[in-house]
Amino acid sequence: MLILGIETSCDETAAAVVEDGKITHSNVVASQLKLHSKFGGVVPELASRAHLQAIPLVLEEAYQEAKVSPRDIEAIAVTYGPGLIGSLLVGVSLAKSLSYVYDLPLIGINHLEGHIYSASLNHSVSPPFVSLIASGGHTSLIFVRGNGDYRLLGATRDDAAGEAYDKVAKLLGLEYPGGPLIDKLAQQGDKNRIKFPRPYLPGSFDFSFSGLKTAVLYYLRGRKKLPIAGPKSRVTSYELPVTEIADIAAGFQAAVVDVLVKKSLKAVKEMEVKTLVLGGGVTANHSLRESFREKAKEAKIKVCIPSPHLATDNAAMVAVAGYHRFRQGRRSSPLTLNAVANLKLGS
Ligand code: KG4
Ligand code: ZN
Repeated sequence: MLILGIETSCDETAAAVVEDGKITHSNVVASQLKLHSKFGGVVPELASRAHLQAIPLVLEEAYQEAKVSPRDIEAIAVTYGPGLIGSLLVGVSLAKSLSYVYDLPLIGINHLEGHIYSASLNHSVSPPFVSLIASGGHTSLIFVRGNGDYRLLGATRDDAAGEAYDKVAKLLGLEYPGGPLIDKLAQQGDKNRIKFPRPYLPGSFDFSFSGLKTAVLYYLRGRKKLPIAGPKSRVTSYELPVTEIADIAAGFQAAVVDVLVKKSLKAVKEMEVKTLVLGGGVTANHSLRESFREKAKEAKIKVCIPSPHLATDNAAMVAVAGYHRFRQGRRSSPLTLNAVANLKLGS
């Protein structure tokens, strides 16, 4: 069964054609990173305009790469939340129109559900399992009892892991998104030189990364500030030797990774399952992937990590989630499906 996936929840315009929830025929992603990087984060109004411009081209490329025509598609899966409302509306409106014009079943997908299924494109995954989603907007531990049957074990109480990466990167004078840059810098740094706190929140599966970000800010306090975009710029960074920036990046990253690994393995143990599935942009991180592999081996559990281009936002993961939902009989109306900015998992 060929499903067209559409994803526009944040700053990636994406369309993909996936067969039977497993075989990726195309997975096209147009990134808006260049557009937003100078603002230090995603500007919602610019994001929705950029989606409008990119979506016809991305859709066409997804058909062409998959060597299919719209008439070969058998169902359409689209992210309808959570995310930026203007961005979501672009994908949802396109999916509704295609569903109506070609008389195809439409399946509305929760963005987190997409991340849960991304690893199943390069691993054999079947429930029950525990899923850790660590992205720019979410850090959640989810118990997946069966397809579509989710129990939220814990989530961030403040900043998501990716958000903390992006904010710390900003403090270090790095561009948005900071995650990949900190990842790279940390590889040259000493993770033991600066010890940042590990916010474990004992007795809960929730996360909290804003204190860790503040710890980095306190570490930098008192250092000389420099304008980084010209003398009149309000964007500042700190005067730091490159080696120290690398050590801060490595120390901060070690704290994030330790917390994510420890809490995820605890959840696997408590839910009495043998599989942990990762998803979300932060799980593209080199050190995180290595640490999860090592600790999962020690704990004798299977860890399924999406390949880096599937960890970040894409539409193939939405098509896979759509496939499992379709098989369960889920259908959305091409007339009434609407974007929901704060959509909860399981609703
Ligand atoms: O899943 P995603 O593409 O979009 C959301 O749903 O938010 O995740 C984007 C987040 C950003 O915060 C970005 O800095 C982070 O993932 N990220 C990384 C890496 N690549 C992307 N964080 C750490 N290491 C990376 N290699
Ligand atoms: Zn995402």
